Amino acid sequence: MDGNGRWARQRGEERVFGHSHGVESVRACVEAAAENGVRYLSLFAFSEENWGRPESEVNTLMGLMLKAIADEVDNLKKQGVRFRALGDMGRLEPHLVEAIKGAEDYTATPPGVEPVLDLIVFLSYSGKWDILQAARRLAADYASNPSAMSEAGADELASRLVTAGIPDPDLIIRTSGESRLSNFLLWQAAYSEFLFVDTLWPDFGKKDFRSALEEYSKRDRRYGKVK
Ligand code: FPP
Repeated sequence: MDGNGRWARQRGEERVFGHSHGVESVRACVEAAAENGVRYLSLFAFSEENWGRPESEVNTLMGLMLKAIADEVDNLKKQGVRFRALGDMGRLEPHLVEAIKGAEDYTATPPGVEPVLDLIVFLSYSGKWDILQAARRLAADYASNPSAMSEAGADELASRLVTAGIPDPDLIIRTSGESRLSNFLLWQAAYSEFLFVDTLWPDFGKKDFRSALEEYSKRDRRYGKVK
């Protein structure tokens, strides 16, 4: 969700003004995803590297997250959207962790009932961190039987990533003209399609989301094989 800062600067405003407008785009994209049959929508809201931003910006972003959860949770539940947050939760303020947990419990569906959409917000997340924590857990789990570790396959590591049980992303959209992955789902993006658009995140709406799906439908996915 890139380009909030530039969007605000173009209007002579502080960067945080862009972030608060970015929440509108989040709402639009959640609705567009649910309306167009997307089953999982992941949002990279705050990276591990974002902790290095000025304290005031970090605090504003965390406050926006808290407010968005409080404002939107009823609406999400009504739409059949299950909310989850993934990342290094230990670095977040306890009251935010508590609000996240509350929203996760509130929007969870009963056993056997599939949500319309899984909305996954990545907070304090980086792809390298995820792979590292999975590798550490794998090593710990095999500590009593280290020779069995040489038999462990990719699935063994994938099942210890924070995204375990969530399908790898089919399409990754990056806004604002940046053409890189910036330490997002490094493992999980192995065969994702990428779409880089110039639109700044606060200008990215339902129409843009639908255009992205349209573009995705034209891609030919071969997974390294021939057709
Ligand atoms: C990147 O733009 C955007 C962020 C680091 C924050 C994204 C967060 C939100 C939109 C807030 C709410 C999120 C949810 C899920 C409710 P940037 O600041 O790097 O902008 P720039 O590239 O123009 O500097």
